[in-house]
Amino acid sequence: MRIVVVGSSGRLGAALVREWRAAGDQVHPIPHASLDLCDAHAIRDALTPLSFDVLVNCAALTNVDYCETHGDEAMLINRDAVRVLAEMCVRKHKRCVHISTDYVFDGEKRTPYVETDEAHPLGVYAASKLSGERVLLETDREHLAVRVSWVFGPDRPSFVDQILKRAHETEDLSAVADKWATPTYTLDLAKLLRPLLREVKVKGVLHLTNAGECTWQEYGQFALDCAAKLGAPLKGRTVAPLKMSELAAFVAKRPVYTVMSTAKFTARTGLTPRPWQEAVEEHVRATLRA
Ligand SMILES: NC(=O)c1ccc[n+]([C@@H]2O[C@H](COP(=O)([O-])OP(=O)(O)OC[C@H]3O[C@@H](n4cnc5c(N)ncnc54)[C@H](OP(=O)(O)O)[C@@H]3O)[C@@H](O)[C@H]2O)c1
Repeated sequence: MRIVVVGSSGRLGAALVREWRAAGDQVHPIPHASLDLCDAHAIRDALTPLSFDVLVNCAALTNVDYCETHGDEAMLINRDAVRVLAEMCVRKHKRCVHISTDYVFDGEKRTPYVETDEAHPLGVYAASKLSGERVLLETDREHLAVRVSWVFGPDRPSFVDQILKRAHETEDLSAVADKWATPTYTLDLAKLLRPLLREVKVKGVLHLTNAGECTWQEYGQFALDCAAKLGAPLKGRTVAPLKMSELAAFVAKRPVYTVMSTAKFTARTGLTPRPWQEAVEEHVRATLRA
């Protein structure tokens, strides 16, 4: 299959390119360095000569706090560029698969969100991502927006890597213990997204994460327990609980609970994502080996 991956220099994009190539797909990466999504003409110029079966957009302005004070830029990249990508796919009679976020929800629910739950974004990043989903599906109902959460993997550090790094340096570790979601491994996403591009025609909005739920504190503690079990020389072994309200560095308001049900994904594909703990353990093992 010929797949274009936009945002191929990011955490998820880089993993998709590598894993899908290894699985035998013909992948055309488009990194930020070769295409600025702020420039609609450049997007059209880059895509016009390309032949492909599906385009996957992993690019986004992802810094939630930066977006809060740079609303125009967030909308340009997370909404307007998505419209141009979606239109270019329609012109070529191809599907656009766009990566979105659990942050479209306000976090007031206490059971896993399903695709039909109403989205109420709390901040600019979340609003721009929800607008991106909407313009994607207004352009063509055959396109697909895949909402993921707490993405981690080998290609760019995330929370789990930061806590591991800190644990090697200090005993003083803490993380938010009153916010719940599901860590999601880029290598698992590469496997689980692949059938959605070909055999199974799923359209509209889809939730896709690893299974289970946790707080950041539980996530960090689990990663440290794995590292300790594997013999890592850690200075810090306990992650103390913090309240989200204690984090003065947060500019944007974050939703408290954004666990998402993957029942629709399983119903359409017959596949079940593995628990986040198995994925984190694999990531920690690979990180310590590197
Ligand atoms: N990370 C998470 O926990 C998380 C959670 C929920 C949803 N998501 C969604 O998952 C997707 C992938 O996220 P990720 O974790 O892989 O984030 P990431 O590592 O920040 O990747 C985003 C990519 O977009 C690129 N980009 C930013 N501005 C651009 C522009 N103007 N033109 C072209 N490319 C641009 C970045 O370029 P550079 O390489 O120059 O940085 C980066 O390669 C995003 O849609 C995000 O909203 C992520």
